[in-house]
Amino acid sequence: MSDDSRPSPPAGPSATRTAAVIPAAGRGVRLGPGAPKALRALGGTPMLIHAVRAMAASRAVGTVVVVAPPDGAAEVRSLLDAHALPERTDFLVVPGGQTRQESVKLGLDALPPGHDIVLVHDAARPLVPVDTVDAVIEAVRDGAPAVVPALPLADTVKQVEPAGTPGEPEPVVATPERALLRAVQTPQGFDRNTLVRAHETVTGEVTDDAAMVEQLGLTVVAVPGHEEAFKVTRPLDLVLAEAVLARRRLNDGF
Ligand code: C5P
Repeated sequence: MSDDSRPSPPAGPSATRTAAVIPAAGRGVRLGPGAPKALRALGGTPMLIHAVRAMAASRAVGTVVVVAPPDGAAEVRSLLDAHALPERTDFLVVPGGQTRQESVKLGLDALPPGHDIVLVHDAARPLVPVDTVDAVIEAVRDGAPAVVPALPLADTVKQVEPAGTPGEPEPVVATPERALLRAVQTPQGFDRNTLVRAHETVTGEVTDDAAMVEQLGLTVVAVPGHEEAFKVTRPLDLVLAEAVLARRRLNDGF
């Protein structure tokens, strides 16, 4: 197989056309008391900085918009200024909203013209590898209006009738076929105009941006996700994240 037959990396003349919006305005209550989740340290570095570096690691990403807690934009700006980040990338910070959806919309509104692909990446997924980021961008470049990284499920999933009180037994109403289900991660990638239209027209609560594009009637495609792109949600996830970082340090020899 000659070098020419390998897929080309998402760089080149259009390298600055991709932007990443990082919603980081959540409180992270499930992680326990303390600073907003994105500002908590992992391996001595705030989770948000890991997430920002993960996006900027892709040579295709020219701009990163960080959506800060509503009253925390100045703090997040200083945090970015205090950490080494690639010089080829522009970094913007805007205050977020009350819901994730609102925060993403505020980030999109702040995006300068000239980007035709937008990634939306949770600050709570600090360790996503650059190959996953590039695979998402590549699939949008290949024509998909929306792309999600996704993994098969280890657990069987049950649909229940939620109990009014936490801890009460809940009747199971269905068992979807596991082989047809995927756990979806971020960054999710979009044709910019499609994502803007979705945020302008779709109302109602959703838990990811791709769901809004689905509601427009467009096809969302899934590409392989990565086990290291897990969301840091509960205290045990912090332990796992520290272990992944320790393994990377060992492998990288520093
Ligand atoms: O709450 P959840 O884990 O779904 O949050 C996913 C991402 O959305 C996190 O990175 C969080 O900081 C962000 N978020 C936000 N604005 C909110 C709520 C959540 O930017 N109001």
